[in-house]
Amino acid sequence: MTRVFSGIKPTGHLTLGNYLGAMRQWGAVDQHQADSLFCIVDLHGMTVDHDPARLRRLTRQAATLLLAAGLDPELCTVFVQSHVDEHTRLSYLMECVATDGEMRRMIQYKEKVASEGARGRSVRLSLLTYPALMAADILAYGADEVPVGDDQAQHVELTRDLAVRFNQRYGHTFVVPKATVPKVAARVMNLQDPTSKMGKSDDSGAGIVYLLDEPDVIRKKIVRAVTDSGREVVYVREEQPGVANLLEILAACTGGNPESLGIVHDSYGALKQATAEAVLDMLSPVQARHKELCADPGYVEGVLRHGAEKARAIARPIVDTAYRAIGLLPPGAFSGAAAAEPALNAVR
Ligand code: TRP
Repeated sequence: MTRVFSGIKPTGHLTLGNYLGAMRQWGAVDQHQADSLFCIVDLHGMTVDHDPARLRRLTRQAATLLLAAGLDPELCTVFVQSHVDEHTRLSYLMECVATDGEMRRMIQYKEKVASEGARGRSVRLSLLTYPALMAADILAYGADEVPVGDDQAQHVELTRDLAVRFNQRYGHTFVVPKATVPKVAARVMNLQDPTSKMGKSDDSGAGIVYLLDEPDVIRKKIVRAVTDSGREVVYVREEQPGVANLLEILAACTGGNPESLGIVHDSYGALKQATAEAVLDMLSPVQARHKELCADPGYVEGVLRHGAEKARAIARPIVDTAYRAIGLLPPGAFSGAAAAEPALNAVR
């Protein structure tokens, strides 16, 4: 069975972009078709300035929302990255296989260095080594497929290179994974700036629909979305990015297609109303389930504990194999294997 691994960073409240771009596909497709692991990558959340209490809160919230969005612990494995030591154990080995040049070429790193540099600030070293940890996340599970947005494709590509290089140097150890573009995903753009992705934060949050926003807040954000200078509702991304974004959101929520939905709605106002209602219809069961789960934190904790156990059972032997392959002496290996070692003076 194909193994799928993906991760989500608890660096902000989860958004409609996270839901339509990833989480929904994980629950609707991946967990039914593949042996799937979904990881809340809290260690990656520390590669930028972070507040400890907030990181903890967002980690718990992300786990609760993943379950609320339909991930079923009977069908897939949901866990927190820092609960399974194998990620950091293997990350170090990845740092011994990668070069610093490779890391410095990563677009996400370069962009962050540029924007922080412009404000006279430096970045954490862990931001540079981020892809080594991400490679470890994926390779520790022998994942075949990694469903990610295109902004992460470069990191998965580097993961493949590291896997191939490790296998060539030290013997076959890792499955070489590939990035997959989710089949039922939409690329949701910021409502106030429809040429950039709906990330977890912008200056005001006005362009971002958070999954836990109150219904009237969601309605307001969508109604106030920037539209374009034309008046016609047509789906042309390059010319009318604001309208196209709303049409894509509407299509993603209702299962329609953006072109024909453009024909049905004859004004921007009507399109916004319809989109707001569709988003609310889709999110209200998720919000209701989230509320139930919040009332039962012991359940979520149990899911994470069990998830970490299942994850560890997969990752442990793979990472142990990598440790042996790269030349690290296994603990307790003196008694049995020692006799087979060449005499000390013969060791180069
Ligand atoms: N870097 C990914 C992101 O920012 C999150 C991530 C970390 C991830 N480890 C992963 C995604 C492993 C897929 C597989 O979205």
